Amino acid sequence: MRKIKVGVLGATGSVGQRFVQLMDGHPWFELGALFASERSAGKNYKEVSKWFLPSEMPEEAAEMVVKSINNIGTSNDDIAIMFSALPGEIAIEVEKRCAQAGYAVASNVSVHRMEKDVPLLIPEINTDHFGLIEVQKSNRGWDGFIVTNPNCSTIVMTLSLKPLMRFGIEEVRVATMQAVSGAGYAGLPSMAILDNVIPFIGSEEEKMESEPLKILGTLDGSEIRNAAFSICASCHRVPVIDGHTEAVWVKFKENVSEEEVKKAFKNFTTDIKTPFSPEKPIILRDEPDRPQPKLDRDAGRGMSISVGRVRKGQMENEIKYIVQGHNTVRGAAGASILNAEVLAERGFI
Ligand SMILES: NC(=O)c1ccc[n+]([C@@H]2O[C@H](COP(=O)([O-])OP(=O)(O)OC[C@H]3O[C@@H](n4cnc5c(N)ncnc54)[C@H](OP(=O)(O)O)[C@@H]3O)[C@@H](O)[C@H]2O)c1
Repeated sequence: MRKIKVGVLGATGSVGQRFVQLMDGHPWFELGALFASERSAGKNYKEVSKWFLPSEMPEEAAEMVVKSINNIGTSNDDIAIMFSALPGEIAIEVEKRCAQAGYAVASNVSVHRMEKDVPLLIPEINTDHFGLIEVQKSNRGWDGFIVTNPNCSTIVMTLSLKPLMRFGIEEVRVATMQAVSGAGYAGLPSMAILDNVIPFIGSEEEKMESEPLKILGTLDGSEIRNAAFSICASCHRVPVIDGHTEAVWVKFKENVSEEEVKKAFKNFTTDIKTPFSPEKPIILRDEPDRPQPKLDRDAGRGMSISVGRVRKGQMENEIKYIVQGHNTVRGAAGASILNAEVLAERGFI
């Protein structure tokens, strides 16, 4: 099979470099072009990428010349998919320009996520939302389209909520312990985060309180009807490199036992079978001190989330648990790659 060529927008950043790393040896996709700012344009990728251990950088990427985003679509590049890891204020225009030019844009960026005709996807949950692609193309007159994946902490929590939806959720509360890689390469000075916890992450709580409701919602004609429960989030940055950990309290409409919740996590399966889909999207950890980022973030090559400490809460009909997932793999680059694989498999690309 001929491989599909992909471009990476923001290829020199924290998430962009993860895209490049994860493309190495991908059976369906291959790197066609790497884009970044004027600061990096014209230089070899190995000169301007700052985050990988040299051994982690794929050989095919090291000598590629980084292009400016102003060059998108100006050469006959036969790229079909653009993975986007640009800062929001740049992505808002560039992603639209790409979709207009006919590319399928698989974006990590928040700016288009909540637009009514843009799918916000976790393939194990809502491939029926692919129906929005035709709506978007027709609304906007584009040859290409934009699909998005959720915010990193949202993906981890929302995957864990999916198998619990059948019990009837009334309210969710969550407190996050988020890794520093989530703030980007230049994100936090070491003096600010070492020996510290920062109890504020800009716009994170708003994303966690809104995105899951769209993802867990149902496609009704040309619109998503949001899931009908409330979410209250408190988000915190902790001195962990990779892997977000979240304490979740779920209040159900009726009494649900710990055993029923554990069984729902354990038995969760999907029909998504592509190179990046984990065999088990949710892994139930039985040990009392799991999940932990150091031990569990690489489960399923970083694409599985781990849940543990399932127990009764103090409120009526409440269960609490801990969930953990790799923020730059499952929560960012890996999520966009999985979206693109499922799109390719189903003939959208
Ligand atoms: N980190 C995460 O875990 C995570 C998770 C989910 C979503 N996201 C989202 O993904 C996006 C990227 O995040 P990140 O953490 O990877 O950021 P980052 O490390 O700061 O990287 C930003 C990238 O964008 C490029 N860029 C910056 N200004 C530009 C400009 N004016 N024109 C063209 N390119 C420009 C940079 O290129 P230069 O190197 O040339 O400056 C770099 O490649 C953000 O929107 C973020 O919210 C991040």
